[in-house]
Amino acid sequence: MSEPTDRRYGPAPLPQPRGPVSAAVLDALRQPAQDLPAGLGARLDPAEPLTDEDLQLTLFLCYELHYRGWRGVDEDWEWQPSLLALRAYAERHFEAAVRRLVGPLPAVLPGGVPEALADLVAAADGPSLATQLQRRATLAQFREFVTHRSIYHLREADPHSWALPRLGGPAKAALVEIQTDEYGNGRLDRMHAELFRATMQQLGLDTGYAAHLDAVPAVTLATNNLMSLFGLHRRLRGALLGHLAAYEMTSSLPNRRYGNGLRRLGFGEAATRFYDEHVEADAVHEQIAAHDLCGGLVRVEPALAPDVLFGAAAALAVDRLFAAHLLQRWAAERSSLRGSAAPPRVTLRERPQNRVPSPLSAVA
Ligand SMILES: [Fe+2]
Repeated sequence: MSEPTDRRYGPAPLPQPRGPVSAAVLDALRQPAQDLPAGLGARLDPAEPLTDEDLQLTLFLCYELHYRGWRGVDEDWEWQPSLLALRAYAERHFEAAVRRLVGPLPAVLPGGVPEALADLVAAADGPSLATQLQRRATLAQFREFVTHRSIYHLREADPHSWALPRLGGPAKAALVEIQTDEYGNGRLDRMHAELFRATMQQLGLDTGYAAHLDAVPAVTLATNNLMSLFGLHRRLRGALLGHLAAYEMTSSLPNRRYGNGLRRLGFGEAATRFYDEHVEADAVHEQIAAHDLCGGLVRVEPALAPDVLFGAAAALAVDRLFAAHLLQRWAAERSSLRGSAAPPRVTLRERPQNRVPSPLSAVA
């Protein structure tokens, strides 16, 4: 079997199928790259693309070929034409659903983009997952939250790096400044992905790359697939920067709450460092993202102003769906992870001096 380093950094093993199309793709990926069976795309007809397990896993399977790949899978699948055609079919459903979810956005002149982003963020009034985690979540629920987020945080910043070769001038400089922090200024132990791995270790969770993929539902995959959709299509570069701006502009306060939630549960600095780091860093990144990154982009490419707003609104809207899923499941005293998947493995060597997790309080 693979060495531990493989498990930390990927590629991950192929996950379990979630429907006929992802099953067919998984069967194909176990073979040398070749044409997929005909008619697969037509079998994707989701009523709710953002929460459709088969569609979201199919997209994730296709996209991951551009990140770390899949363990034991022929690397030529990355550019296999019939797989790309299936991905495009799935993306049409996905992007249309995101645009429906976001709805119409106010017209904006390029010079007004930073203020319009600030207005969008201020108007985002979704359920407060961060407040729940700060004040009431049990240790098991916090572990679930970290399990969901591990799909992104163990490759934190990677999707937005796809913008780098597509930009020049002030927006590129701003993106480099943000990403430099995300990647720990070139120090492995300061990389945000590694800080998150330390949080997972403290919580007794498997820190293998995408180790919890089978446990997370479609809505969690959708938050990741959205970044990949924006990142892999040059036409959506404005949306990609808007997405990053929304993340940076809504990060500081929730991360303070996440850290406080872990402290309430008895965890120390090793567990909270990832969140504490973001409280400070993202207060700075917020300004860079709105003014230098997105403002800089639309000064050079004014026609992209609506795309920037769409990307930010999409990030906020899909994250609202994610938060609502967790809060609704917890309010019903159910797990937010997939029912058939085993719960995250607990391997705490030493228990923190945490309180006994309190019974779940109703979510306001
Ligand atoms: Fe980060």
